[in-house]
Amino acid sequence: MSKVTVVGAGNVGATAANVMAIREVADEVVMIDIKEGVSEGKAMDMMQTANLLDMNTRIKGVTNDYEATKDSDVVVITSGIPRKPGMTREELIGVNAGIVKQVTESVLKHSPNAIIVCVSNPMDTMTYLIHKISGLPKNRIIGMGGALDSSRFKYYLSQALNANPNEVEGFVIGGHGDTTMIPMKRFAALRGVPATTLLDAETMDKVVADTMVGGATLTKLLGTSAWYAPGAATAEVVEAIIHDQKCIIPCSALVEGEYGESGLCIGVPCLLGKGGIEKIIEIELNEEEKALFAKSAAAVRKTNEALPC
Ligand code: NAI
Ligand code: 2OP
Repeated sequence: MSKVTVVGAGNVGATAANVMAIREVADEVVMIDIKEGVSEGKAMDMMQTANLLDMNTRIKGVTNDYEATKDSDVVVITSGIPRKPGMTREELIGVNAGIVKQVTESVLKHSPNAIIVCVSNPMDTMTYLIHKISGLPKNRIIGMGGALDSSRFKYYLSQALNANPNEVEGFVIGGHGDTTMIPMKRFAALRGVPATTLLDAETMDKVVADTMVGGATLTKLLGTSAWYAPGAATAEVVEAIIHDQKCIIPCSALVEGEYGESGLCIGVPCLLGKGGIEKIIEIELNEEEKALFAKSAAAVRKTNEALPC
């Protein structure tokens, strides 16, 4: 029996739960929220698609009832406020730190062995906060951001290459922020052919720039932050853990010397399996990438200074 809890049944949490249920990532998915009736209603709505979609996952929704989350294998934290047009992810820190702290303590009381996937923004800082307050081993705390940013990078690459996004490779490391993420253009490829040989430098730079503000572009269009790709990217991370896929997905992890940094959570390629982050994969960065990573780490560290504890 595998069980996943999603805290926060808002746009991202409910989408992640729905994708996980349709893909049958776990036997049971529980959504929990503070808004009376919202989780229950969304869970019932999703369960009414079971016969339409041939879906066997059991989805349950509760309000504030942490007993229902008992013995979860993975807990996804999406509770918190999202950004509005013009806001940075960093501006959410005050409100979201309080919510993430309370939620982490509550879920661990009922699922002391769970792996935690943090989605709430500013995600790298919230992931670091969970480390500070929980004392969990570092493999069990994962920040979701790189999976989403990499998917956006592949989307913009596919547009520039006029190609199917499924045939495009690419990944993003560094912080999950408009100025801190690092789309790795050197490794981008279409069916193994380096994208740098298929696109001129100016086009590639535009792909990188569009990726970096990918979230802000959607926030401007939607009036709130996006949810389809964030929800699906969250489900991808949880699936890798529950199904012990041993796949490499960039996630925010506590670094202890990797990439020359320590004492913060930042996006790095991670081998994900049933142990959570089973290994941080260290790739050799060139001088330009090293400088970008150091700058990104400094910015994330600065945001961490605003944490209340
Ligand atoms: P939303 O407002 O649609 O949903 C948030 C939900 O959290 C609401 O239903 C709210 O009632 C609930 N909530 C608030 N406090 C709670 C508590 N103490 N316990 C349980 N539930 C609580 O927001 P949305 O769009 O789903 O975004 C959620 C978070 O995820 C935001 O912080 C957003 O910035 C972040 N995000 C992160 C991404 C990433 O890649 N890491 C991507 C997209 C969003
Ligand atoms: C996003 O990237 C705001 O983190 C959120 O869509």
